[in-house]
Amino acid sequence: MKDKLEALKAEALTKLQAVNDPQILNELRVKYLGKKGELTEVLRGMGGLSAEERPVIGQVANLVRSAIEEVIGAKQELFQQQETESRLNAEKIDVTLPGRGMPQGGIHPLSRVIQEIEDIFIGMGYKVAEGPEVETDYYNFEALNLPKNHPARDMQDSFYITDDILMRTQTSPVQIRTMQAMNGEPVKVICPGKVFRRDDDDATHSFQFHQIEGLVIGRNIRMSDLKGTLQQFMKEMFGPSAGIRLRPSFFPFTEPSVEVDVSCFKCGGEGCRLCKQSGWLEILGAGMVHPNVLRMGGYDPEVYSGFAFGMGAERIAMLKYGIDDIRYFYTNDMGFVKQFKGI
Ligand code: PHE
Repeated sequence: MKDKLEALKAEALTKLQAVNDPQILNELRVKYLGKKGELTEVLRGMGGLSAEERPVIGQVANLVRSAIEEVIGAKQELFQQQETESRLNAEKIDVTLPGRGMPQGGIHPLSRVIQEIEDIFIGMGYKVAEGPEVETDYYNFEALNLPKNHPARDMQDSFYITDDILMRTQTSPVQIRTMQAMNGEPVKVICPGKVFRRDDDDATHSFQFHQIEGLVIGRNIRMSDLKGTLQQFMKEMFGPSAGIRLRPSFFPFTEPSVEVDVSCFKCGGEGCRLCKQSGWLEILGAGMVHPNVLRMGGYDPEVYSGFAFGMGAERIAMLKYGIDDIRYFYTNDMGFVKQFKGI
């Protein structure tokens, strides 16, 4: 029996030493040490041994078992190590590789100008109000004192969706919407937004552009308040030496109405190419809110008065950055847009 055990040990050790596959190692472990394994098989025959022989053979069997276990353990450890090593090799990260750059965007020059204007007016206590781009004829024209067939509608031909619904031609309908929402309380808002006109596109016209409208309503609001507000705005927008000039004009929703010019920030009023030698740049339209408009907004013109002004964001951006074609704003030309990144 002892010989049998020794032979088993010799065979097992030779086979185990030669193994280089974890699965075969496991198969061999079952073959020798498993419940139905060969060692167990030999030990089962111990019942037939004498009382003296039993402990001797038992000891040999234990030695054989631990010898086999030792080799298996060593092999398992080796395979484990090999696997870790090859895993580490496969997953190696080269930290010296240069990273993939994330291109950083910039603010579009139009958005920049709109934000700048908003900031200036927010600093003067204004709130920002917005309204729908698809408007009713009532809000876009009628409530602004432009009844159907009013000749001033000609200047603002639009895209009609139905007879009564159109793409708004100005941000002025937000005046009416704000007044109605304020329910007779004082108003101080600016309304930036996209507007649409049925215009042929060229260097200075676009069928869609952006306006920023301002509206102030309260008791004792006077023309001098409008003038002072716009003077302050121009100084903050174009520099402390900016002056303004008011010229009489006409808008159906303001009375009196004015056209407001700012002294040319490029030549300081001397006359240059930008201001066409006049020394002035035409910037916005403004006036005192017409009594009819106050009434339609829910305010009694005997008690309340107000002023309104409106300007085009594109025009201001073009003057400010020396852009000579309005179409650049909308063509997503990276070469154009990138120039404004660091400004
Ligand atoms: N909405 C006018 C326009 O588009 C501009 C404006 C606004 C004029 C407010 C006066 C007061 O022409």
